[in-house]
Amino acid sequence: MRLKDKSAIVTGGGSGIGRATALAMAAEGANVAIFDINEEAAQAVATEAAAFGVKTLGLAVNVALDEDVKRGVATAAAEFGTVNVLFNNAGIIRRANVIDTTLEEWDQVMGVNVRGPFLLSKYVIPLMIADGGGAIVNTGSGWGLKGGGDALSYCTSKAAVVNMTRALAIDHGPDNIRVNSVNPGDTNTPMLREEARQLSQAEAAFLEESNDRPLKRMGTPEEIAEAVIWLASDASSYVTGSALVVDGGGIA
Ligand SMILES: NC(=O)c1ccc[n+]([C@@H]2O[C@H](COP(=O)([O-])OP(=O)(O)OC[C@H]3O[C@@H](n4cnc5c(N)ncnc54)[C@H](O)[C@@H]3O)[C@@H](O)[C@H]2O)c1
Repeated sequence: MRLKDKSAIVTGGGSGIGRATALAMAAEGANVAIFDINEEAAQAVATEAAAFGVKTLGLAVNVALDEDVKRGVATAAAEFGTVNVLFNNAGIIRRANVIDTTLEEWDQVMGVNVRGPFLLSKYVIPLMIADGGGAIVNTGSGWGLKGGGDALSYCTSKAAVVNMTRALAIDHGPDNIRVNSVNPGDTNTPMLREEARQLSQAEAAFLEESNDRPLKRMGTPEEIAEAVIWLASDASSYVTGSALVVDGGGIA
Protein backbone atom coordinates (compact mmCIF):
# COMPACT_ATOMS: atom_id res chain seq x y z
CA MET A 1 0.00 0.00 0.00
CA ARG A 2 2.55 2.56 -1.16
CA LEU A 3 -0.04 5.34 -1.63
CA LYS A 4 -2.28 4.71 1.37
CA ASP A 5 -4.15 7.86 2.49
CA LYS A 6 -3.17 9.72 -0.70
CA SER A 7 -5.63 11.31 -3.13
CA ALA A 8 -4.64 11.51 -6.76
CA ILE A 9 -5.69 13.08 -10.03
CA VAL A 10 -4.71 11.21 -13.21
CA THR A 11 -5.24 13.04 -16.49
CA GLY A 12 -5.74 10.99 -19.63
CA GLY A 13 -6.72 8.23 -17.21
CA GLY A 14 -9.23 6.68 -19.58
CA SER A 15 -6.70 4.82 -21.70
CA GLY A 16 -3.18 3.43 -21.97
CA ILE A 17 -0.57 4.63 -19.46
CA GLY A 18 -3.07 6.77 -17.54
CA ARG A 19 -5.52 3.91 -17.12
CA ALA A 20 -2.83 1.48 -15.95
CA THR A 21 -1.53 4.08 -13.49
CA ALA A 22 -4.97 4.97 -12.12
CA LEU A 23 -5.60 1.28 -11.42
CA ALA A 24 -2.13 0.81 -9.88
CA MET A 25 -2.65 3.87 -7.66
CA ALA A 26 -5.99 2.51 -6.45
CA ALA A 27 -4.37 -0.86 -5.78
CA GLU A 28 -1.77 0.99 -3.67
CA GLY A 29 -4.50 2.56 -1.56
CA ALA A 30 -5.00 6.01 -3.15
CA ASN A 31 -8.30 7.68 -3.92
CA VAL A 32 -8.19 8.42 -7.65
CA ALA A 33 -9.92 11.01 -9.84
CA ILE A 34 -9.67 10.11 -13.49
CA PHE A 35 -9.86 13.12 -15.81
CA ASP A 36 -10.29 12.43 -19.51
CA ILE A 37 -11.83 14.18 -22.49
CA ASN A 38 -13.57 10.83 -23.06
CA GLU A 39 -16.12 10.79 -20.24
CA GLU A 40 -17.25 7.22 -20.80
CA ALA A 41 -13.68 5.93 -20.59
CA ALA A 42 -12.98 7.99 -17.45
CA GLN A 43 -16.07 6.59 -15.76
CA ALA A 44 -15.28 3.01 -16.79
CA VAL A 45 -11.79 3.24 -15.26
CA ALA A 46 -13.22 4.90 -12.13
CA THR A 47 -15.60 1.95 -11.74
CA GLU A 48 -12.75 -0.55 -12.22
CA ALA A 49 -10.54 1.29 -9.73
CA ALA A 50 -13.30 1.42 -7.11
CA ALA A 51 -13.00 -2.37 -6.80
CA PHE A 52 -9.84 -1.74 -4.74
CA GLY A 53 -11.99 -0.18 -1.99
CA VAL A 54 -10.89 3.44 -2.53
CA LYS A 55 -12.92 6.51 -3.52
CA THR A 56 -12.88 7.18 -7.26
CA LEU A 57 -14.25 9.75 -9.68
CA GLY A 58 -14.44 9.69 -13.48
CA LEU A 59 -14.84 13.18 -14.92
CA ALA A 60 -15.04 14.70 -18.39
CA VAL A 61 -12.17 17.20 -18.32
CA ASN A 62 -10.43 18.71 -21.32
CA VAL A 63 -7.05 19.57 -19.78
CA ALA A 64 -6.54 22.40 -22.27
CA LEU A 65 -9.59 24.29 -20.96
CA ASP A 66 -9.24 26.49 -17.89
CA GLU A 67 -12.88 26.11 -16.82
CA ASP A 68 -12.80 22.31 -17.15
CA VAL A 69 -9.62 21.99 -15.10
CA LYS A 70 -10.85 24.38 -12.40
CA ARG A 71 -14.12 22.47 -12.08
CA GLY A 72 -12.40 19.06 -12.12
CA VAL A 73 -9.86 19.98 -9.44
CA ALA A 74 -12.57 21.53 -7.23
CA THR A 75 -14.71 18.40 -7.58
CA ALA A 76 -11.81 16.08 -6.67
CA ALA A 77 -10.82 18.25 -3.70
CA ALA A 78 -14.41 18.32 -2.42
CA GLU A 79 -14.80 14.54 -2.79
CA PHE A 80 -11.41 13.51 -1.33
CA GLY A 81 -10.71 16.40 1.08
CA THR A 82 -7.47 17.26 -0.72
CA VAL A 83 -5.27 16.29 -3.68
CA ASN A 84 -1.68 15.32 -2.88
CA VAL A 85 -0.70 13.34 -5.98
CA LEU A 86 -1.02 14.69 -9.54
CA PHE A 87 -0.19 12.66 -12.64
CA ASN A 88 -0.17 15.03 -15.62
CA ASN A 89 -0.37 12.42 -18.35
CA ALA A 90 -2.98 13.37 -20.98
CA GLY A 91 -1.24 13.80 -24.31
CA ILE A 92 -1.78 13.78 -28.06
CA ILE A 93 0.58 13.44 -31.00
CA ARG A 94 0.59 14.78 -34.56
CA ARG A 95 3.12 13.06 -36.76
CA ALA A 96 4.26 15.77 -39.18
CA ASN A 97 7.24 18.01 -39.90
CA VAL A 98 7.08 21.79 -39.60
CA ILE A 99 5.82 22.34 -43.15
CA ASP A 100 2.97 19.88 -42.83
CA THR A 101 1.94 20.83 -39.28
CA THR A 102 -1.05 23.18 -39.45
CA LEU A 103 -1.31 26.06 -37.02
CA GLU A 104 -4.41 24.42 -35.59
CA GLU A 105 -2.53 21.13 -34.97
CA TRP A 106 0.34 23.01 -33.32
CA ASP A 107 -2.11 24.76 -30.98
CA GLN A 108 -3.91 21.50 -30.22
CA VAL A 109 -0.72 19.64 -29.30
CA MET A 110 0.67 22.51 -27.24
CA GLY A 111 -2.77 23.00 -25.64
CA VAL A 112 -3.11 19.43 -24.40
CA ASN A 113 0.54 18.56 -23.76
CA VAL A 114 1.80 21.86 -22.29
CA ARG A 115 -1.14 24.08 -21.28
CA GLY A 116 -2.72 20.99 -19.65
CA PRO A 117 0.01 20.33 -17.06
CA PHE A 118 0.35 24.10 -16.54
CA LEU A 119 -3.34 24.46 -15.65
CA LEU A 120 -3.47 21.33 -13.50
CA SER A 121 -0.37 22.42 -11.59
CA LYS A 122 -1.75 25.92 -11.17
CA TYR A 123 -4.89 24.69 -9.44
CA VAL A 124 -3.54 21.64 -7.59
CA ILE A 125 -0.36 23.12 -6.08
CA PRO A 126 -2.27 25.48 -3.73
CA LEU A 127 -4.12 22.41 -2.39
CA MET A 128 -0.80 20.61 -1.89
CA ILE A 129 0.66 23.63 -0.09
CA ALA A 130 -2.35 23.72 2.24
CA ASP A 131 -1.91 19.98 2.82
CA GLY A 132 1.81 20.26 3.68
CA GLY A 133 3.19 18.85 0.42
CA GLY A 134 2.63 16.49 -2.46
CA ALA A 135 4.06 14.79 -5.52
CA ILE A 136 3.57 15.63 -9.19
CA VAL A 137 4.59 13.36 -12.04
CA ASN A 138 4.47 14.70 -15.60
CA THR A 139 4.54 12.42 -18.62
CA GLY A 140 7.31 13.53 -20.94
CA SER A 141 8.73 11.22 -23.58
CA GLY A 142 12.04 10.04 -24.94
CA TRP A 143 11.21 12.65 -27.57
CA GLY A 144 11.28 15.34 -24.89
CA LEU A 145 14.93 14.50 -24.28
CA LYS A 146 16.03 13.95 -27.89
CA GLY A 147 14.51 14.81 -31.25
CA GLY A 148 12.41 12.54 -33.43
CA GLY A 149 11.31 12.58 -37.07
CA ASP A 150 7.99 13.93 -38.31
CA ALA A 151 6.77 14.92 -34.87
CA LEU A 152 7.75 18.59 -34.62
CA SER A 153 4.95 19.82 -32.36
CA TYR A 154 5.09 16.71 -30.16
CA CYS A 155 8.87 16.87 -29.62
CA THR A 156 8.60 20.58 -28.80
CA SER A 157 5.76 20.00 -26.36
CA LYS A 158 7.47 17.14 -24.54
CA ALA A 159 10.72 19.07 -24.12
CA ALA A 160 8.57 21.81 -22.57
CA VAL A 161 7.09 19.26 -20.17
CA VAL A 162 10.54 18.09 -19.09
CA ASN A 163 11.71 21.62 -18.36
CA MET A 164 8.39 22.72 -16.83
CA THR A 165 8.97 19.84 -14.42
CA ARG A 166 12.37 21.21 -13.39
CA ALA A 167 11.05 24.77 -12.98
CA LEU A 168 8.13 23.56 -10.84
CA ALA A 169 10.52 21.46 -8.74
CA ILE A 170 12.68 24.53 -8.04
CA ASP A 171 9.74 26.80 -7.16
CA HIS A 172 7.90 24.29 -4.97
CA GLY A 173 10.61 22.23 -3.31
CA PRO A 174 10.38 24.58 -0.31
CA ASP A 175 6.65 23.70 -0.15
CA ASN A 176 7.56 20.01 0.18
CA ILE A 177 6.22 19.32 -3.31
CA ARG A 178 8.32 17.00 -5.47
CA VAL A 179 7.94 17.25 -9.25
CA ASN A 180 9.42 14.70 -11.67
CA SER A 181 8.86 13.56 -15.22
CA VAL A 182 8.51 9.99 -16.40
CA ASN A 183 9.75 9.59 -19.96
CA PRO A 184 8.43 6.50 -21.72
CA GLY A 185 9.71 5.06 -24.94
CA ASP A 186 7.30 3.28 -27.28
CA THR A 187 4.62 1.77 -25.07
CA ASN A 188 1.83 -0.52 -26.16
CA THR A 189 -1.19 1.83 -26.08
CA PRO A 190 -3.71 3.15 -28.63
CA MET A 191 -1.37 6.13 -29.24
CA LEU A 192 1.10 3.91 -31.13
CA ARG A 193 -1.64 2.66 -33.44
CA GLU A 194 -2.75 6.26 -34.00
CA GLU A 195 0.81 7.12 -35.03
CA ALA A 196 0.85 4.28 -37.57
CA ARG A 197 -2.44 5.61 -38.96
CA GLN A 198 -1.18 9.21 -39.20
CA LEU A 199 1.97 8.05 -41.00
CA SER A 200 -0.06 5.75 -43.31
CA GLN A 201 2.09 2.81 -42.22
CA ALA A 202 0.97 -0.77 -41.72
CA GLU A 203 0.26 -1.24 -38.02
CA ALA A 204 2.11 -4.55 -37.65
CA ALA A 205 5.32 -3.20 -39.21
CA PHE A 206 5.12 -0.02 -37.16
CA LEU A 207 4.71 -1.99 -33.92
CA GLU A 208 7.56 -4.30 -34.89
CA GLU A 209 9.83 -1.28 -35.32
CA SER A 210 8.82 -0.11 -31.85
CA ASN A 211 10.40 -3.28 -30.44
CA ASP A 212 13.80 -2.28 -31.83
CA ARG A 213 15.72 -1.28 -28.69
CA PRO A 214 18.22 -2.96 -26.34
CA LEU A 215 15.53 -4.90 -24.44
CA LYS A 216 14.01 -5.93 -27.80
CA ARG A 217 10.42 -5.06 -26.99
CA MET A 218 8.21 -2.04 -26.46
CA GLY A 219 7.01 -1.22 -22.94
CA THR A 220 3.71 -2.06 -21.31
CA PRO A 221 1.52 0.61 -19.68
CA GLU A 222 1.97 -1.26 -16.39
CA GLU A 223 5.76 -0.84 -16.57
CA ILE A 224 5.37 2.93 -16.92
CA ALA A 225 2.78 2.92 -14.11
CA GLU A 226 5.28 1.22 -11.80
CA ALA A 227 7.76 4.08 -12.29
CA VAL A 228 5.00 6.64 -11.68
CA ILE A 229 3.98 4.91 -8.44
CA TRP A 230 7.59 5.09 -7.26
CA LEU A 231 7.88 8.80 -8.14
CA ALA A 232 4.51 9.55 -6.49
CA SER A 233 5.27 7.60 -3.31
CA ASP A 234 7.44 8.40 -0.31
CA ALA A 235 9.93 5.78 -1.57
CA SER A 236 11.36 8.55 -3.80
CA SER A 237 11.35 11.16 -1.01
CA TYR A 238 14.66 12.79 -2.10
CA VAL A 239 13.94 12.78 -5.86
CA THR A 240 12.71 16.01 -7.46
CA GLY A 241 13.30 17.77 -10.77
CA SER A 242 14.42 14.53 -12.36
CA ALA A 243 13.60 13.02 -15.75
CA LEU A 244 13.24 9.26 -15.35
CA VAL A 245 13.56 7.37 -18.63
CA VAL A 246 11.56 4.13 -18.90
CA ASP A 247 12.19 2.88 -22.41
CA GLY A 248 13.95 -0.46 -22.53
CA GLY A 249 17.18 1.38 -23.32
CA GLY A 250 15.73 3.11 -26.39
CA ILE A 251 17.63 6.38 -25.98
CA ALA A 252 20.60 4.92 -24.13
N1 LIG B 1 2.50 5.24 -25.98
C1 LIG B 1 3.74 5.66 -26.16
O1 LIG B 1 4.53 5.05 -26.87
C2 LIG B 1 4.23 6.90 -25.45
C3 LIG B 1 5.59 7.19 -25.45
C4 LIG B 1 6.06 8.32 -24.80
C5 LIG B 1 5.16 9.16 -24.16
N2 LIG B 1 3.84 8.88 -24.18
C6 LIG B 1 2.93 9.80 -23.49
O2 LIG B 1 2.17 9.09 -22.54
C7 LIG B 1 0.94 9.79 -22.29
C8 LIG B 1 -0.21 8.81 -22.36
O3 LIG B 1 -0.30 8.31 -23.67
P1 LIG B 1 -0.84 6.86 -24.03
O4 LIG B 1 0.16 6.21 -24.85
O5 LIG B 1 -1.38 6.19 -22.82
O6 LIG B 1 -2.02 7.31 -25.03
P2 LIG B 1 -3.57 7.00 -25.12
O7 LIG B 1 -3.99 7.62 -26.38
O8 LIG B 1 -3.83 5.54 -24.87
O9 LIG B 1 -4.18 7.79 -23.88
C9 LIG B 1 -4.25 9.18 -23.86
C10 LIG B 1 -5.52 9.58 -23.10
O10 LIG B 1 -5.54 11.00 -23.02
C11 LIG B 1 -6.86 11.43 -23.28
N3 LIG B 1 -6.85 12.81 -23.76
C12 LIG B 1 -6.50 13.27 -24.99
N4 LIG B 1 -6.69 14.59 -25.07
C13 LIG B 1 -7.15 14.99 -23.85
C14 LIG B 1 -7.54 16.24 -23.31
N5 LIG B 1 -7.51 17.35 -24.05
N6 LIG B 1 -7.96 16.28 -22.04
C15 LIG B 1 -8.03 15.15 -21.29
N7 LIG B 1 -7.70 13.93 -21.76
C16 LIG B 1 -7.27 13.86 -23.02
C17 LIG B 1 -7.38 10.46 -24.32
O11 LIG B 1 -8.79 10.46 -24.38
C18 LIG B 1 -6.81 9.15 -23.80
O12 LIG B 1 -7.68 8.53 -22.88
C19 LIG B 1 0.89 10.91 -23.31
O13 LIG B 1 1.31 12.12 -22.71
C20 LIG B 1 1.90 10.47 -24.36
O14 LIG B 1 2.44 11.55 -25.07
C21 LIG B 1 3.35 7.77 -24.79
